[in-house]
Amino acid sequence: MPRKFNAKSTADQVLSGVDLKGKRFFITGVSSGIGLETARSLVSHGASVVGTLRDIDKSKAITSSVFDAATQGGGSLELIDLDLASLQSVRVCADTLLTNGQQFDAIIANAGVMATPFGRTVDGFEVQFGTNYLGHFALINRIEPLIADNGRLVMLSSQAHRIADVDLDDPNFEQQTYDPFVAYGRSKTATTLFAAEFDKRHRNRGIRAASVMPGNSLTNLPRHFSQEDLQGLFENAGKARAEEGLPPMELKEVAQAAATSVWAAVVADKDEIGGRYLEDCAVAPIDDSPNPFADGVRSYALDASKAEQLWVKSEEMVGTKGTYPMKVIGIIGAGEVGSQIARAAIANGYEVVIANSRGPETLKDLIDELGPSARAATAAGAAEAGDFVVVAVPLKLVNDMPVEQLAGKIVLDTNNYMPWRDGHFPVVDSGEKTVHELRQEQLPNSKVAKAFTHIQASRLFVSSRPAGAPDRHALSVSSNFPEAVELVTRLYDQFGFDTVDNSPLSESWRSGPGQPAWAAHAHQTRAELIANLARARRII
Ligand SMILES: NC(=O)c1ccc[n+]([C@@H]2O[C@H](COP(=O)([O-])OP(=O)(O)OC[C@H]3O[C@@H](n4cnc5c(N)ncnc54)[C@H](OP(=O)(O)O)[C@@H]3O)[C@@H](O)[C@H]2O)c1
Repeated sequence: MPRKFNAKSTADQVLSGVDLKGKRFFITGVSSGIGLETARSLVSHGASVVGTLRDIDKSKAITSSVFDAATQGGGSLELIDLDLASLQSVRVCADTLLTNGQQFDAIIANAGVMATPFGRTVDGFEVQFGTNYLGHFALINRIEPLIADNGRLVMLSSQAHRIADVDLDDPNFEQQTYDPFVAYGRSKTATTLFAAEFDKRHRNRGIRAASVMPGNSLTNLPRHFSQEDLQGLFENAGKARAEEGLPPMELKEVAQAAATSVWAAVVADKDEIGGRYLEDCAVAPIDDSPNPFADGVRSYALDASKAEQLWVKSEEMVGTKGTYPMKVIGIIGAGEVGSQIARAAIANGYEVVIANSRGPETLKDLIDELGPSARAATAAGAAEAGDFVVVAVPLKLVNDMPVEQLAGKIVLDTNNYMPWRDGHFPVVDSGEKTVHELRQEQLPNSKVAKAFTHIQASRLFVSSRPAGAPDRHALSVSSNFPEAVELVTRLYDQFGFDTVDNSPLSESWRSGPGQPAWAAHAHQTRAELIANLARARRII
């Protein structure tokens, strides 16, 4: 059958005659270039598009062309904030989409940066690997339940993948000199490997994933290049292609550069493109010549074993933010809350070092029950050993915490203010401070987060649900430190719960005893918890 589309086809030509009413698409990076045109073309054919921007307030004007096209074509555009260079932003974006709960027929992971000067994302990843790849890895895996059965994932790759294979040993350029093109190439090889592995993992739902080289087009992408740099690049590309007898490189109009994305997301036979690398509205052939400017895909970018290894490495990097392994939890307090958190932690692969006020020897039975991943210690010992620490004892006005050993650590405070148990604290009674702000004052060099306070310890196992389950129970977290919120969010997720961020600590009273979120402790979804926190009224 002759090919219907080619390098010259535009997105509108690819979608000609296609009615996308009722179809939903999620596209990252719709503020400019290929993403903007992809969104415009889809909405002008009736699609509903949710597009991401880094700064919604600044960028609304840029997307007016898409809003106009939506009005004319019967589609719609909704915008959502996303900075792929921040896992916190990725999580907030993903959680907003999950709360909304509407499914997507396709995700187009389009946003990207190219050949940036050396830099790190807020989580410490090299900027191009972190933005183009790891941010998308974290985002897409989190919202995967929103991809409809038989849906599609399109990952924007690049011809530049030909420059370099991923480096699993040094993905952040910590042991080698940074090269902006090598870094860009690696990030794009990673997106291609990700598409292949995602396709393998989700094919059983009929979901197919492919990567796309859109073609070279003068968008805002080379914003870090001078005119001479760009000229030099074109000359090198021209020479390299001529030496191999290839036709000269042709720049595409942006309308043409968006064609392969919409072809992959809507028109192509999904079983033909699944797991493949596409260019010019077709599956690209393997071409292992070292020429970085040749067409086709290098076989290392589709290597199944590399794709699997990269996935595992990425899980580690995104999970621990690439900074420190959070493997050991110190737990101060071995009552019902402390011991139940210990059980859940061990079930999720952590080691625990747990303490009570009566000495490690009194915890023998508990340690026997918890098994080899647990040991008993003093409170100072547990604080010292933990990569982060759970405090499961009431706050005392005379500070009884091992302040020094907790310094620099994230401390999860599970305490609730219960004057009938702990006595009255005037500053809490007057509403001047929350009990968790007092804990933060007692631990000035730690990062306190209120966590696990409105769930009965015994329900930690029974209420647990897999990510994406419609009835998944949600828990709140409050902290003055985003990294503490990030850690608790991940822990909740591992334990089987969604998170609502109720920061800072001054807001933590909203989930306290007697408040709607507390009263609904037996079960509340994320949306219900958000509503319950908003309904809280000061009880003084
Ligand atoms: N143009 C080409 O010749 C070419 C060739 C091969 C592959 N590609 C790939 O095609 C995709 C689209 O590129 P383009 O040419 O359209 O470039 P572009 O005009 O620069 O657009 C890139 C988009 O990504 C967004 N973005 C950048 N950093 C982000 C971050 N940290 N978080 C969220 N969004 C971010 C940008 O948002 P801001 O406006 O906020 O920066 C913008 O919307 C990229 O993945 C690129 O690698 C392009």
